[in-house]
Amino acid sequence: MLKKNLFKLLMPFAAASLILAACGAEENGASGSSDSTSTEGETTKLVVGTDAAYAPFESFDNSGNIVGIDIDIVKAIGEEIGVEFEINNVGWEPLFQQITNGEIDLGISAITITDERKETYDFTEPYYEATQLIVTKEDSDITKLDDLKDKKIGVQINTTGHYAAQDLQGKTSTNILPYETTPIAIQEVINGTVDAAIGDNAVILEYIKNNPDSKLKAIEDDSFEKEYYGLMVKKGNTEVLEQLNEGLQKIKENGKLAEITGQELD
Ligand code: ARG
Repeated sequence: MLKKNLFKLLMPFAAASLILAACGAEENGASGSSDSTSTEGETTKLVVGTDAAYAPFESFDNSGNIVGIDIDIVKAIGEEIGVEFEINNVGWEPLFQQITNGEIDLGISAITITDERKETYDFTEPYYEATQLIVTKEDSDITKLDDLKDKKIGVQINTTGHYAAQDLQGKTSTNILPYETTPIAIQEVINGTVDAAIGDNAVILEYIKNNPDSKLKAIEDDSFEKEYYGLMVKKGNTEVLEQLNEGLQKIKENGKLAEITGQELD
């Protein structure tokens, strides 16, 4: 409590200390360090990992900046709690590894909160509702998930799309082809290496929108469950988790989150 009040008192100076923190980091050439705490004991800089091949949540713009819904969310949270976030494109699988070994403080990467992941990581409150979609060629006769039983399915490795494919065909099915990124999995549909891919709805729809000549269609299926994205930290990292939840709660209340995602969460 005392710590929080002190923090509020110091809020007007937070912006100044952010600049200092940024300069310090540059001088040391420090990137990937996750021990930036101010003298008040409040963390002022947090290192974030993401897989920036995931528009509209995280991707590179033409100037090489990582942009997207997730980036806007961490920025908005940072403004609320006076924390600077350093965003690193680490890739999907390394993201989990690097949180575990402490190289990064948190992940934001359209990460679905699952019971299995909760055994090793802690998640904030949800910030986005999603589900899976099938993507296949426009002229394909696939119309539902069940049609993929004996078909080749492309997925991004260890995503909920991958798990959905395993639920359908069994864990060891050789008809499931796991790729490093979702855009590669979709590209392999276009190439004809796989018959379809399964991935997060907003990402598939964004891909189709951005690649109008790709001749792809998206298919919904009721058997895909609702999923919720959360920010992810190492299990037991309550200090960071509480800060993130505090900021997230604020941007839920002031409407900023809904403005960024275009979605009302209850
Ligand atoms: N929501 C899915 C999951 O958590 C896929 C997320 C992939 N995110 C990314 N940036 N590649 O498994």
